[in-house]
Amino acid sequence: MDNKTINGFSKLSKKEKIKWLSKNYLTDNPEAERLLSVYWHEDSARQKRHDEFIENALSNFFLPFAVAPNFSIDGRIYAIPMVIEESSVVAAASNAAKFWLTRGGFKTEILSTVKSGQIHLNFSGASSDLIDFFNQNKELLINSISDLSQSMIKRGAGLLDLSLVDQSDKLSNYFFIDARFKTADAMGANYINSCLETIADTFSVLSADYIPFQNHKPEVVMSILSNYVPECLVRVSVQCPVSDLAQSELSGAEFAEKFVRAVKIAQTNPLRAVTHNKGIMNGVDAVILATGNDFRAVEAGIHAYASKSGTYKSLSTAGVQDRWFKFSMELPLALGTVGGLTKLHPMVGVAMSILQEPSAEDLMKIVATAGLAQNFAAVRSLVTTGIQKGHMKMHLLNLLSQYNADDSIKSAAVEHFKTHTISARSVADFVAAHSAND
Ligand code: MEV
Repeated sequence: MDNKTINGFSKLSKKEKIKWLSKNYLTDNPEAERLLSVYWHEDSARQKRHDEFIENALSNFFLPFAVAPNFSIDGRIYAIPMVIEESSVVAAASNAAKFWLTRGGFKTEILSTVKSGQIHLNFSGASSDLIDFFNQNKELLINSISDLSQSMIKRGAGLLDLSLVDQSDKLSNYFFIDARFKTADAMGANYINSCLETIADTFSVLSADYIPFQNHKPEVVMSILSNYVPECLVRVSVQCPVSDLAQSELSGAEFAEKFVRAVKIAQTNPLRAVTHNKGIMNGVDAVILATGNDFRAVEAGIHAYASKSGTYKSLSTAGVQDRWFKFSMELPLALGTVGGLTKLHPMVGVAMSILQEPSAEDLMKIVATAGLAQNFAAVRSLVTTGIQKGHMKMHLLNLLSQYNADDSIKSAAVEHFKTHTISARSVADFVAAHSAND
């Protein structure tokens, strides 16, 4: 058998897994085995916690944990934890936070907190039979999750309603049961999925004996929450007099005009919209990661929301009204501050403490703020200096490390590149020249 395949890998100890991997995949990279073994936590109990998150854990994958201070959100000051690898993101967020701190800060509003899940059905009989069955049994379906819902109900949350949706005009025999939930401070994926599977089981049991279904039994295809959460929505905005926007070489009005135009382009052209929204996600994902939330769910939901008109568009909007510059966005965010990783990952605990133990709604406001701040910083750079100046400044240390510069060359380079253009080539040349001088 090909030694690149293996049975029972998950049963091996961590050391055995690394040995097997290095023997079969890493023969060209002898350093890899050592690295996999040194990126472990020195405290074995802490390391075990991380190992238990997933199957086949070999090591840890470090990303920097930073904070962007000086955020004013609804009058409260926050330092926002961010986990991200991109050099300029935290600097840009901090910059935008400080800019808006003296201009009224960020204002937010929770528009709704409803999430949903669906039980997808095949049914080839008369739709009226399925509708009658659903209406007659709806109470029983709802009651089937009363045990599961107890603690949610105590927190003022739980199932809001169940409805049957006929989509057989779009896909033959396709119906689904739509279940809408509130999940308090939990992201709610486990709760929602457990409820859906229980309701689906009840549906199957009840439908088995339903006489009108004798020739056409409905079949449950699957039951799963939706990561599209257009009803779990937060709004964030900033505004200030146009005159407060003056930048070094631009009047406030000139800057506002350029900025608003850039946002309108992102609302018109998907080629630009995707990158514009990527800038928003730089802020959003960094906070999502730091707070142990599910960034894949958030990404999928947000990009679907950006396409809700049928065309992928900018999530943010900007305009000038009565000489006030207004910049805002609505973001669908299903987040949790209890459950999931929130109590398991020690650094998530630290992030939650830095944020003063936010509720899920608070966290929605904080995440949306980080997204809008990041978007403001990016578009501001794009319409003024261009993005590369700031980006390369922040990237300089990475380039220096890449070219194996020691600390003294790094310090000299930081001074030198204050007045010289940074590029991969210019940094490589600088390191080569200074290493040669040593
Ligand atoms: C880079 O990570 C993000 C930007 O491309 C966002 C944007 O173009 O608005 C700078």
